[in-house]
Amino acid sequence: MADLGTDLEVVAWIDGRLRILDQTRLPDEEAYLDLTGVDDVVDAIARLAVRGAPAIGGAGAYGMVVALDEARPSGVEEARAVLEAAAARIGAARPTAVNLPWAVRRVRDAAIGGTSVEEIRRLALDEAHAIVAEDREACAAIGAHGAELLADRHRILTHCNAGRLATLGIGTALGVVYAKAAAGHPVEVYAPETRPLLQGARLTAWELHRAGIPVTVLPDGAGATLLASGRVDAVVVGADRIAANGDVANKIGTFAHAVAAARAGVPFYVAAPRSTFDPATPDGDHIEIELRAPDELRGAPGRPGAPAEVAVWNPAFDVTPHELVTGIITDAGVLRGDYSAAIARLFEQI
Ligand code: MRU
Repeated sequence: MADLGTDLEVVAWIDGRLRILDQTRLPDEEAYLDLTGVDDVVDAIARLAVRGAPAIGGAGAYGMVVALDEARPSGVEEARAVLEAAAARIGAARPTAVNLPWAVRRVRDAAIGGTSVEEIRRLALDEAHAIVAEDREACAAIGAHGAELLADRHRILTHCNAGRLATLGIGTALGVVYAKAAAGHPVEVYAPETRPLLQGARLTAWELHRAGIPVTVLPDGAGATLLASGRVDAVVVGADRIAANGDVANKIGTFAHAVAAARAGVPFYVAAPRSTFDPATPDGDHIEIELRAPDELRGAPGRPGAPAEVAVWNPAFDVTPHELVTGIITDAGVLRGDYSAAIARLFEQI
């Protein structure tokens, strides 16, 4: 077991190639995939081989360089067209996490002014590296702010996976957990299994166990009962997009934990970097919620599920209204109270 799991590389640029840890194969196998074309990048993001808002931002950013390498443009205008097309395609691979379109646009905007094909590629790669490095730092800062805020709260309920597997650093919600552990605080995590793709049971449990942090998996429906039992000191979840008024889109099931936490008097925190805020979206009603394939809930050989004939509704995310959020732990500090004003101030500083 590595020290707090620091050896995990979820998205990496190695030998001129984009390599991702294939999360569809965890926890059985630690296998890596080289993504050598735009189709590969879009496919890996869409089927959650790489997942989590900041991690798909990083994969998308490097995907822009993959697009240039695949197309081999013969001139500057062609290279610019490749960047535009790749930003549109990769940026739309999943609709809810704002980090993805934010990252590909950032790479496009940084590279498009290059005056040769070589310069355009270099600018694109530099920007992708910068996005990855910034997320690593943002995760560390979130961890530090969260560990201070939750110094006396050791039993954490999270949801989905907002850890190393979901980011380019130590994670957001789990970044707080790792920072507490590194500071020598006792810490233990409750991880709802997160149906239907089991990011909690497969990924959070694997990641935390590997890092030596006590973790207990529960069915999604047991969250309210656990909260009411007094066995949780704080809920800490990640986010895919935070609107200008503080409404939070995160994995389906998050809203239910927030409602149950409010009833139980347990604080409900969201941990997210500034790249997950979307000041252009006024509130949660304006966030597009990804609807995934009905087959994720239908049975297949060896996998019990709904009969093929019945209707399925499979939203991947929900929106927790800001009134239920006790605080938002960002890389720039903890936001509370009037989120509209706090978020506006956050972006004035940039
Ligand atoms: O569908 P997923 O697995 O990409 O959903 C991920 C989440 O909902 C995470 O909580 C969110 O992206 C934050 S990751 C730091």
